[in-house]
Amino acid sequence: MSETNTRIALVTGANRGIGFQTARLLGLEGMTVLVGSRDAGRGAEAVRALEKEGVTAHPLEIDVTDAAGVAAAAERVAHDHGRLDVLVNNAGVALGWGAAGATDLAAFREVLEVNLLGPVAVTDAFLGLLRRSPAPRVVNVSSEIGSIGTLTDPEGPFFGLSGGLPYPASKAALNMATALYAKELAGAGAKVNAANPGYCATDLNGHAGTRTAEQGARVVLHLATLPGDGPNGVLWGHLAGASDPDAHGVLPW
Ligand SMILES: NC(=O)c1ccc[n+]([C@@H]2O[C@H](COP(=O)([O-])OP(=O)(O)OC[C@H]3O[C@@H](n4cnc5c(N)ncnc54)[C@H](OP(=O)(O)O)[C@@H]3O)[C@@H](O)[C@H]2O)c1
Repeated sequence: MSETNTRIALVTGANRGIGFQTARLLGLEGMTVLVGSRDAGRGAEAVRALEKEGVTAHPLEIDVTDAAGVAAAAERVAHDHGRLDVLVNNAGVALGWGAAGATDLAAFREVLEVNLLGPVAVTDAFLGLLRRSPAPRVVNVSSEIGSIGTLTDPEGPFFGLSGGLPYPASKAALNMATALYAKELAGAGAKVNAANPGYCATDLNGHAGTRTAEQGARVVLHLATLPGDGPNGVLWGHLAGASDPDAHGVLPW
């Protein structure tokens, strides 16, 4: 298939964890995957691993907190591919889990830089390229921990969660960004949604998660390959409180 027909997907933070598995699954679907990594060496290593599985992958150096680097990455994609069909804002950090009342503001700023301002900067920089796609798909990798409805539901699985404002607040704000981009881009045939991968064993949580990174990536894959009549502007993914441990669906904002 020529690249004109092959969908082009960019995943930020694709060198490990859920991002790597997302790049892998998108590649196995036949997409050309741009493997976003802030470190060129780690990106190249991930590309080699993906190529061994038959995936067409190219490294793309991108630190989502570096405005000039994000702009340069968008220019490179414009030059090499001329458009972008799928953008997965996956790069994220989870810092500052101190108790409420003792919030680490430095950690909070860093979390917001990566988890909120990063996806906004990347989406804005790639907007022109996304608009050149016949069916753009943007997936913001969020979390059930950023769902205000879930965290405040006395019957819900996370009602007892306390401490650590930065990460939940960053994902709640990312959910708002998702909803507003979804409205903004609806006329362009785009789908902009937030993904809840569920609690996956990755470096982010010292591999304490109960799901695999691939299970989390399947949520992202679903949203990245939505048909034209699929949902736009929802938080969708793993439903932690459901009796079926593999249940997926729309979560409250
Ligand atoms: N694991 C879970 O249970 C879970 C649940 C819900 C949501 N999520 C979300 O899923 C996403 C991926 O998390 P993960 O669990 O796969 O974490 P991970 O294994 O720690 O991977 C995080 C990725 O983000 C990259 N990254 C961090 N800061 C970056 C920056 N400034 N610019 C570009 N890349 C950056 C890392 O790159 P380096 O290798 O260079 O550090 C790495 O590739 C995150 O948004 C996270 O919040 C995870």
